[in-house]
Amino acid sequence: MIPVAPRSLTLTAARPDPGLLDLPWSTRLEDWPAELIAALPRGISRHVVRFVRVGSGLVAVKEIRTELAQREYHLLRSLRRLDQPAVEPLAVVSGRCDAAGEPLDACLVTRHLRFSLPYRALFSQHLRHDTGVRIIDALAVLLVRLHLTGYWWGDVSLSNALFRRDAGEFAAYLVDAETGELHDRLTDGQREHDLDIARVNIAGELMDLLAGGLLQDSLDPVAVSQRIIDRYRELWSELTVPEEFDSGERWRVDERIRRLNALGFDVDELAITTDIDGATLQIQPKVVDAGHHSRRLMRLTGLDVGENQARRLLNDLDAFRASQGRQNDAEDLVAHDWLTQIYEPITRTVPHELAGRLEPAELFHEVLEHRWYMAERAGHDIRIEDAIGDYVAHVLPGKPYEATILGPVAPLHD
Ligand SMILES: Nc1ncnc2c1ncn2[C@@H]1O[C@H](COP(=O)(O)OP(=O)(O)OP(=O)(O)O)[C@@H](O)[C@H]1O
Ligand SMILES: [Mg+2]
Repeated sequence: MIPVAPRSLTLTAARPDPGLLDLPWSTRLEDWPAELIAALPRGISRHVVRFVRVGSGLVAVKEIRTELAQREYHLLRSLRRLDQPAVEPLAVVSGRCDAAGEPLDACLVTRHLRFSLPYRALFSQHLRHDTGVRIIDALAVLLVRLHLTGYWWGDVSLSNALFRRDAGEFAAYLVDAETGELHDRLTDGQREHDLDIARVNIAGELMDLLAGGLLQDSLDPVAVSQRIIDRYRELWSELTVPEEFDSGERWRVDERIRRLNALGFDVDELAITTDIDGATLQIQPKVVDAGHHSRRLMRLTGLDVGENQARRLLNDLDAFRASQGRQNDAEDLVAHDWLTQIYEPITRTVPHELAGRLEPAELFHEVLEHRWYMAERAGHDIRIEDAIGDYVAHVLPGKPYEATILGPVAPLHD
């Protein structure tokens, strides 16, 4: 804890950014000057939340009671340490007073999650038919991941999550840990409790959108909120339920692992037991963890991207390796060449004024898709350089702007 002027102000942070000290902590967050505030879409919240530039970055500031701010800060830190997709806590500023010496609530400062969108912003864009469903699927994956690490959320809802595009799918991040509890493991009762909360909250949120004319008629709030429960149960059993088969069917072990990988999960340990005469085999994935592909890509290239994006990029890396006949070269050397010869030049080709439309990894994924369509139309292979040229000229200008700074967008709430 670092006491800073005025005397009572306290900043709790692992690595405090000096720029934080310049913010007007003696003013209620609601009254912070407009020039400090970045107008970005945000979800509905009880507390006042503002996005503020600090140095070259952007942070989210939430005004909240000190004990709650501290608790949420520490929970978010634990979740990050456990490699869970959650916003990154930066600091708690407490002991605030206004000019008249009246105490003010504390502020929790988190790093703004770049390229993330609250669900209301997603729904208010032109939604493709199945987008609502894919958002729900992303939330189900997030809930399963959190439950596997022993995190009880307590307030599962669309507005307490943020969504990022992940190779055409979505990846969900936890944003509000105010009600959460971290246990060694959750009981079935605790998991069911979270599911009940999810069902009620999500149906309510979607009914709100429906009332505001923002939801497609084809999406029924109750059916969609039930879908999160169904998807969750499917995933949960795929990840945890033991499976029994004949010992002659060993390939099914491999199949199970592949299915888990395809769902974005990694099998750390698989318990295999046989019965006394060895006729049947029982397998149970023991420690399951997500992020297999993104960790591999990170290790090879330092790129920190979503799981599906990582899978896409790794496929392209593998294709690069094959096309160069370098199967026997060290993987990290090939990865470095792919990064400098393919990935970086391609993502850098985008003209400055279009660069904020999509995150680079998502752009790369789209260019690969675009190349595939072009090749199909042309009936022959297309060079990636030609694909990016065509993509930048014809597709990218029509994309919504998703970078951090969206310009003067009206806040979605208050
Ligand atoms: N680090 C962040 N990056 C991007 N957006 C954020 C971040 N922190 C908060 N937000 C936005 O602010 C909104 C409100 O945050 P949060 O849910 O923590 O507030 P709250 O008042 O605790 O909500 P509740 O009403 O659920 O208690 C979120 O839905 C999200 O859109
Ligand atoms: Mg919230």
